[in-house]
Amino acid sequence: MALPATLLLLLLPLPVAGDPSQDALLFQAPQGDPEAVNLGVRWGSLTPTGVIHIDLSTVTSATSSFEFRTRDAEGPIFSGDTGGGDWFVLGLRRGQLEVQLQNSVTNLSAAAGPRLDDGRWHRLSVSSEGHAVLLELDGAPALTLRHVAAPLARHPLPTMRIAPGGLLWPPTRLLDPLDPAMDGCMRRWDWLNQTVAWGQGSSGGPPKPCFRTLLPGSFFAGGGAIFTTADLVPDPPAPEGGWELVVELGVRAPSQTGLILAITDANTSLVLSLSLTPTALTLRLDQGGQLSLPLPPGCPCPVDAVGLHVGPASLSLRLGAQHTCTPLAAPALRLRTAWTSPHGRLHLGALPEAAEGPGPFQGCLHGLQVQGQELDLDAALAKSNAIWSHGCPGNGGHRVGCTCP
Ligand SMILES: *[C@@H]1O[C@H](CO)[C@@H](O)[C@H](O)[C@H]1NC(C)=O
Ligand SMILES: *[C@@H]1O[C@H](CO)[C@@H](O)[C@H](O)[C@H]1NC(C)=O
Ligand SMILES: *[C@@H]1O[C@H](CO)[C@@H](O)[C@H](O)[C@H]1NC(C)=O
Repeated sequence: MALPATLLLLLLPLPVAGDPSQDALLFQAPQGDPEAVNLGVRWGSLTPTGVIHIDLSTVTSATSSFEFRTRDAEGPIFSGDTGGGDWFVLGLRRGQLEVQLQNSVTNLSAAAGPRLDDGRWHRLSVSSEGHAVLLELDGAPALTLRHVAAPLARHPLPTMRIAPGGLLWPPTRLLDPLDPAMDGCMRRWDWLNQTVAWGQGSSGGPPKPCFRTLLPGSFFAGGGAIFTTADLVPDPPAPEGGWELVVELGVRAPSQTGLILAITDANTSLVLSLSLTPTALTLRLDQGGQLSLPLPPGCPCPVDAVGLHVGPASLSLRLGAQHTCTPLAAPALRLRTAWTSPHGRLHLGALPEAAEGPGPFQGCLHGLQVQGQELDLDAALAKSNAIWSHGCPGNGGHRVGCTCP
């Protein structure tokens, strides 16, 4: 039984974040590509973006194809199954295409092709020919699997389900575990020569747009991501008192007042924060003072190369070529305690509602490194749906016009 051959997309209207205030924020996101469907709508959800039911007796073509674009290295692109326990998944792992399937003939997992997580559109085509499954990438054969299925015509069960952007069953059934969230977009599909029209947002709320161009980074439209600090980066053993916090990031955002990053302790009080005001970038350390650097005059957008460092004896902040620092009267013990406590939290883009501090940030954070390691938004403890984890809009997508050198 060759599931990939029998695809028909009848995408349900896109689900919408439940919180109405969040929906309002999504409305403010840059205008998207009206042709494309965002598969990464809800954080942490196994539920596919849509589920399609197919009557196999109506299927005449053995080929399905679509264009796909992502900067997310891992997750399912679509899954499918029949009532008989046969299933199929096409996904990415380390940016590379991966097929997993289970049926009466075989249990199989195979990878193929170059990395696809480059933020460009790629055309994928999946065909079933007798006992073989063929995968094409950008018009060239990428993977041929022979003797992996019984011919479709002989399949006893007439109904099949197809699920773009998710899994139809618990992920434990996969042969190789796959991070269930895929932050990617799909367009120009042709499922078994049966085109089904559907409208985005017809569920009564705004869908999550696919940006017209996708740059590296994570785009925040008013929500936040929370990480457990103790999980983030295992600290190498440091000599007593030698603990440091090192964070590097780039910011592209319109002029605003908003929280970029914060660390809270077990009592959810703010220990450290990095925030934007219309004219400056400000770093605050509880009981350690405050540093500010002016944003380039007349140009509030890209604030590349931001670095913050809390050492045993000093607090410092860098913004491009500007640098400022202040001595610490005492080591930042409260920060160190919060960082190593199981209850310490790193917040990106927004603070929890109860916490006092700057309001949410809206814009792009990229190149984010914490303690020298890249921070993956898929490792978040919680994440707002108003975040595009693996991509920022290109210049054409910015709401606030700004040309900067
Ligand atoms: C696809 O559908 C069109 C129109 O319904 C039909 O003319 C054509 O033969 C079909 N192609 C295949 C390969 O089934
Ligand atoms: C595939 O794996 C399942 C579960 O481990 C097993 O029951 C089944 O016999 C396997 N099928 C084949 C064809 O190897
Ligand atoms: C949290 O608050 C309690 C009560 O005010 C205090 O005793 C405790 O030291 C605080 N913990 C931290 C980590 O600040």
